Amino acid sequence: MRTYSMEPGDIFRVEGPAKIDVLEGAIYAVGALYTSGSHFTVLRARRLAFKAVDKAKISVVLGPNAVLERARPEEEVLDEWESAASSVDLNGVTVVIGAIDVGKSTMTAVLANKALSRGLRVAVIDADVGQNDIGPPTTISASRIVKPITSLRQIQAEKSVFMQSTSLERIWPRAVEAIGKLVLYARQAWSADAVIINTDGWISGEEAEEYKKTLLAKIKPNNVVAIRIGNELDGILANFSNVVFVRPPPAVGTRTKEDRKIHREMSYARFIFPVREVSVDLNKTPLCNIGLFKGLDLEGEFKAMLSRAINAKITYANQLGSALYVIADQWITRKLNSFKVFGFPEGFEKGLLVGVEDRDGFLIGLGVLKKIYYDRKKAVVYMSSRTEKALQKAACIRVGFIRLNDNFEEAERVVQLLRYDLYTYAQNGTMRGAGSA
Ligand SMILES: Nc1ncnc2c1ncn2[C@@H]1O[C@H](COP(=O)(O)OP(=O)(O)OP(=O)(O)O)[C@@H](O)[C@H]1O
Ligand SMILES: [Mg+2]
Repeated sequence: MRTYSMEPGDIFRVEGPAKIDVLEGAIYAVGALYTSGSHFTVLRARRLAFKAVDKAKISVVLGPNAVLERARPEEEVLDEWESAASSVDLNGVTVVIGAIDVGKSTMTAVLANKALSRGLRVAVIDADVGQNDIGPPTTISASRIVKPITSLRQIQAEKSVFMQSTSLERIWPRAVEAIGKLVLYARQAWSADAVIINTDGWISGEEAEEYKKTLLAKIKPNNVVAIRIGNELDGILANFSNVVFVRPPPAVGTRTKEDRKIHREMSYARFIFPVREVSVDLNKTPLCNIGLFKGLDLEGEFKAMLSRAINAKITYANQLGSALYVIADQWITRKLNSFKVFGFPEGFEKGLLVGVEDRDGFLIGLGVLKKIYYDRKKAVVYMSSRTEKALQKAACIRVGFIRLNDNFEEAERVVQLLRYDLYTYAQNGTMRGAGSA
């Protein structure tokens, strides 16, 4: 532990793990004011800048690999961010947008703290499916904020919606829906006055632009706080007027794609821990988004005929209305007379990330499919003991597009499953009840 004296305006930059006790005076960090007798912590590998607003004395405890350094005022954007946050009326909905690694999550925390200091009831929605700070990767997660935070990582998701993938490419309309659903929930169930939404850094390209534009058009936020480097957000914000622009902190470190992947993989394990191998009866808890097993099993001659007709080796077949679901030796999507045939290769399920969902479509917990016994309609799923305990509340199990290996590391994005899911989603208008007659 070391103590430091700070003059008003002095800025320190710290990389955690660290604990800072304010002994005298007042310190400003991430939109919150800490006066003497209070303290704040900085998580491992997270960086932030803090500033003395009065003459201050602090004591600092640094953990392994932590760093504390004095910053020159021109290296930091604290004042610019503070005046931006002060200028917005946070009553209502505020969306934070920007590219990756520009400080979106930090800005979200700044705004949440600010709203809190104004006596508002605050909820945060983290819509970053790749690098979610409050919930598991592949989710959009929401939580209430009741005391100042230095990082979104300090809070745990209270409500999540499973998005099936770490990227919103091709499925972004579902994110718009999920964010809308969580805003409504925060407003109604939590009576939140201020809802702050953090977004993913997917902003370039036509599809990304369309996503963000649609999101803003649907959510109709009261404010947008945009962290901008150059003109990268111009397309998205063209028709939007309530925008406050800020610059990213110059000293921000960038993370490689590999860093991000490793971070996610640690998260999967964390959310599936302590891991249990659970046998799920698919008659009771069906797959939400795959019609397999929901209809009548086809046996004997029927199965053999079907096999010949589609020229594939079929191990299991199930008919639901005009859809024929088969476990075969390949992925199949084709028409057969008035039937639509969907084929899944035997073992297709191994390692797929799944979300166990409740009746309202909220996530109960993540899991990983180990095996499905097709004829017995039983799935063996790895999940945390917490998820297992809540399983009786589950409505269905949504199959994701990410395949993990035995160590819960990302192995592939299963494109055929995504295509199948997009098809049934389009048929049903929404995913709820996809495949049901
Ligand atoms: N003032 C600062 N000086 C230096 N580094 C900072 C500062 N503020 C935040 N950082 C660090 O910069 C990185 C990016 O910040 P943050 O996570 O808020 O950005 P982001 O846009 O949400 O990133 P991502 O795209 O990964 O979600 C983090 O590692 C954070 O600890
Ligand atoms: Mg972030």
